[in-house]
Amino acid sequence: MATGQVRLNTPAGSGEQQGGKFSRRNLLLGAMGVSAAAFVASFSVVPIFVTKVLQIEVKEIAAGDQLVYSAAANGKAAGDPISASDIQQGKSIQAFPKGKSDNQQNLIEIVRIAAGSGKEGLVAYSAICTHLGCVVGGTLNAKGEIACPCHNSQFDPANNAAVIGGPAPRPLPGLPLEVGQDGTITAGGLFNGPIGVV
Ligand code: FES
Repeated sequence: MATGQVRLNTPAGSGEQQGGKFSRRNLLLGAMGVSAAAFVASFSVVPIFVTKVLQIEVKEIAAGDQLVYSAAANGKAAGDPISASDIQQGKSIQAFPKGKSDNQQNLIEIVRIAAGSGKEGLVAYSAICTHLGCVVGGTLNAKGEIACPCHNSQFDPANNAAVIGGPAPRPLPGLPLEVGQDGTITAGGLFNGPIGVV
């Protein structure tokens, strides 16, 4: 060792013993290792996130579901039970199955067919238009038809929601109803066809 030099008391092969150049390389390699670990860790988190998203439950209508107001009407609030007596002849109400209003595909149009048609009574259909999926009007038009505000398709509530006019390619799917002794309305089954655009 030359005069004036100081021997560093470090383990053999350490970065300090090998000089500053190698210390910087070790630091660089260490940083790369941390980055790689973070990169791998990020991929291990993504599937957990995706799994959480895919676990969101879609609540579909089921037989026995009670039907409730989709919006305030007749002095009732959204979510209140619909009574059969709430729907006058030639009028309609839009409804959701209770607790399932998050799924717009569950929206229902309940109609009481006007007297004189020979088909008086309550009927119900999907409120999602079969043309491009708009929500049909909540009230019947002047002819007593279910009408879609988007492109003016019209459906006949007294004839299984058959298409009367407009671009809709097929009727609105029907929903069987059951009316309890207390007047509450429940779904008697499922829609008899696919909802909206197919
Ligand atoms: S979406 Fe209803 S007529 Fe087009």
